[in-house]
Amino acid sequence: MELAIFIILSGSIIVILACLASIFWFGGLLLPILFSGAPFVPSSKERVDTMIKLANIKPTDHVVDMGSGEGQFLIKSIKAGAQSADGYEIHPGLVVFSRWRAKRNKMQNKIHVFQKSFWKADVSKATIVFLYLLPNHMVKLETKLKNELPIGARIISNEFTFPNWTPVKQEEKIYVYEKTGS
Ligand SMILES: C[S@@+](CC[C@H](N)C(=O)[O-])C[C@H]1O[C@@H](n2cnc3c(N)ncnc32)[C@H](O)[C@@H]1O
Repeated sequence: MELAIFIILSGSIIVILACLASIFWFGGLLLPILFSGAPFVPSSKERVDTMIKLANIKPTDHVVDMGSGEGQFLIKSIKAGAQSADGYEIHPGLVVFSRWRAKRNKMQNKIHVFQKSFWKADVSKATIVFLYLLPNHMVKLETKLKNELPIGARIISNEFTFPNWTPVKQEEKIYVYEKTGS
């Protein structure tokens, strides 16, 4: 009898802890992701390759991926010859995974993944910015990037456009923007 009570009680405690962990993980992460950026939907391999090609990466480039997910843009940018690649990502699991990928590819000296909202990202030295976010954030992001990027920086956006900025290039639904002096 006592054993049965113990099993029921400990089972209930495990279920309650699992529920609390799920609420923390999905409620605590999904809501900020939905309201301050985008959920984790990685760009397709074809899109990544096209975006890297459109970025025309040079050895002097500093890349930033706003919402870097599993880190695929960071790795491919370094492989394409960029000097450094910074990712801003709020999902702790993706931060750990992308840092591990950078280390596995021996790129930990060139890739830095910040567990931080991209709204607080320092883009003052970025020469290339990759984006794959939700359309409702593009207005605020346009203002941040126009104000904070150095002149000549290029932005490559998957799928979504800025409301007031005209792309200099477009391929399928990939848009390239350039920060000019005017
Ligand atoms: C659509 S996914 C794109 C991932 C990657 N850039 C790609 O194209 O494969 C958006 C990513 O942004 C992250 N994210 C959402 N809001 C964010 C925020 N405010 N700051 C940093 N990362 C954010 C999500 O966790 C997710 O990994």
